[in-house]
Amino acid sequence: MSGAHFSAAWLRQREPFDSSARDAAARRLQLQARLRALRPPHGSPTRVIDLACGTGANLRWLAPRLGGPQQWLAVDHDAALLRRWPERLGLAPGAAAFGAPLRFSGPGFQAGIVRQQMNLASRLDSLPWHAAHLVTASALLDLVSLDWLQRLVAVATAARAALLFTLSVDGRHIWSPADPLDTAVAGLFGAHQHRDKGFGPALGAGAITACRTLLQAAGYRVFSAASDWRLDGETDARALALQRALVDGIAAAATEQSPASAAALRAWRQRRRALCHTTRLRVGHVDLLALPPGLAG
Ligand SMILES: C[S@@+](CC[C@H](N)C(=O)[O-])C[C@H]1O[C@@H](n2cnc3c(N)ncnc32)[C@H](O)[C@@H]1O
Repeated sequence: MSGAHFSAAWLRQREPFDSSARDAAARRLQLQARLRALRPPHGSPTRVIDLACGTGANLRWLAPRLGGPQQWLAVDHDAALLRRWPERLGLAPGAAAFGAPLRFSGPGFQAGIVRQQMNLASRLDSLPWHAAHLVTASALLDLVSLDWLQRLVAVATAARAALLFTLSVDGRHIWSPADPLDTAVAGLFGAHQHRDKGFGPALGAGAITACRTLLQAAGYRVFSAASDWRLDGETDARALALQRALVDGIAAAATEQSPASAAALRAWRQRRRALCHTTRLRVGHVDLLALPPGLAG
């Protein structure tokens, strides 16, 4: 398979929930203090590589928390998503010319951004790892294979870069109220998440455990914290819409995984959709920060 594609609309829909989830994890990770320890001296920019950057949600959240001057290399295989950056950063549409560097700044930070279209499955080795202080990715790790993750960890740790991987799914779907089929559906959906997304057999909910093991073996200090989506369909219209989208997506993936269960899954989807406006859903994610040996923080 050539690679997974995600719509700009989907990335926009999830961004506020990603952002709240990351805020909660960041407090437990003491992320801001630990990231600031990465900043190079004398006002030099912190150099960041953002893998599978989409429309820039990772930078929008991270740049203000990292603070100071920054230079980002933002990589994705999807040119349509990369073209959305100026609009999503509130910049003039003229900046959309592909390959043109962008600037994004706010109180306490100034980021220069270079966007690069690249298939990360095949061209990982060509990135400037040795120039990076921080390698980051948001909502990527569960899509990749163990083989690819080993390659990534090898190049990033050889460069002694810090790593921040956020919003990797861990398989937890906690519905309130519950439905008798929830566990079986989660099992089918979890199995579907192991399908190849262009990087080989995907790690799915096993991504964080695999990543932690590889980084600890490389001598890194690894910190992790839950970054769950909390979707209250009763009080939040955006959460209600996201819940409905998830119910549809989960039912479709589970049906693909087990066509024989199609009728039961159709019924599950109907029951869940009818309940969304009174349902609370927690979707399990984990954020992971890894610091190279010898780095304070
Ligand atoms: C779930 S989205 C996350 C996007 C962004 N990091 C965010 O948090 O909004 C996954 C991203 O991986 C990118 N992607 C998938 N396969 C890829 C590949 N082989 N090479 C580069 N990017 C890829 C998609 O285009 C998409 O932008």
